[in-house]
Amino acid sequence: MKLRQLKIKDVDRMLTWMHSKESKDIFAKDFNKYTKEDVTNFVKIKNTKNNINYACVNDDDEYLGTVSLKNIDYDNKNAEYAISFMKEAQGTGAALFATKEILKQAFEELNLEKVYLDVLETNKRAISFYKKVGFIHEGTFRKHFIKNNEYINLLYFSILREEYYKKRFSCFNSL
Ligand SMILES: CC(C)(COP(=O)(O)OP(=O)(O)OC[C@H]1O[C@@H](n2cnc3c(N)ncnc32)[C@H](O)[C@@H]1OP(=O)(O)O)[C@@H](O)C(=O)NCCC(=O)NCCS
Repeated sequence: MKLRQLKIKDVDRMLTWMHSKESKDIFAKDFNKYTKEDVTNFVKIKNTKNNINYACVNDDDEYLGTVSLKNIDYDNKNAEYAISFMKEAQGTGAALFATKEILKQAFEELNLEKVYLDVLETNKRAISFYKKVGFIHEGTFRKHFIKNNEYINLLYFSILREEYYKKRFSCFNSL
């Protein structure tokens, strides 16, 4: 398994997941409306100083998921983390591997102080995963989105540099 730049050949697998029924319920954004052209254009954008997207791929170089550090703010030393893995790759340790790699880059190479994320309160699997990795619930935007005619809270989580260094020696140890 490894992280690499997104490639055009990943687009079809990305779309399969984005257009699935599951993805409709777990993201604030409606990924179903993104076309092949939209995703191709996204993949073509090169990583910059402020936005990094990686594909996590298996040993056959097949796309498993995307992990990102967005809005990297070097003045305030923070960045937003995002992750999405295909159904078949969930529960395999791939997301844990990708998260370990991107947090390593954030804290050990970019020297950031904080990495944060937001997640719909209904996305229980992602919330369990974030807690396992060491993210801490920081606050809640109440009734921030409407899905299936119901209001949903948006939760904010973050991990600080010192928390990463403590955690680095526990849950990531087996990887
Ligand atoms: C979020 C995501 C990256 C996590 O990766 P993963 O490989 O599924 O995570 P893991 O299996 O390592 O961990 C998930 C944990 O949640 C637990 N879990 C699964 N379903 C759950 C549920 N309904 N309620 C609570 N916990 C749940 C699992 O048991 C596991 O905990 P454990 O390792 O202690 O047993 C992945 O599921 C994913 O990409 N989901 C779709 C996209 C998404 O939701 N992205 C986040 C948007 S904010």
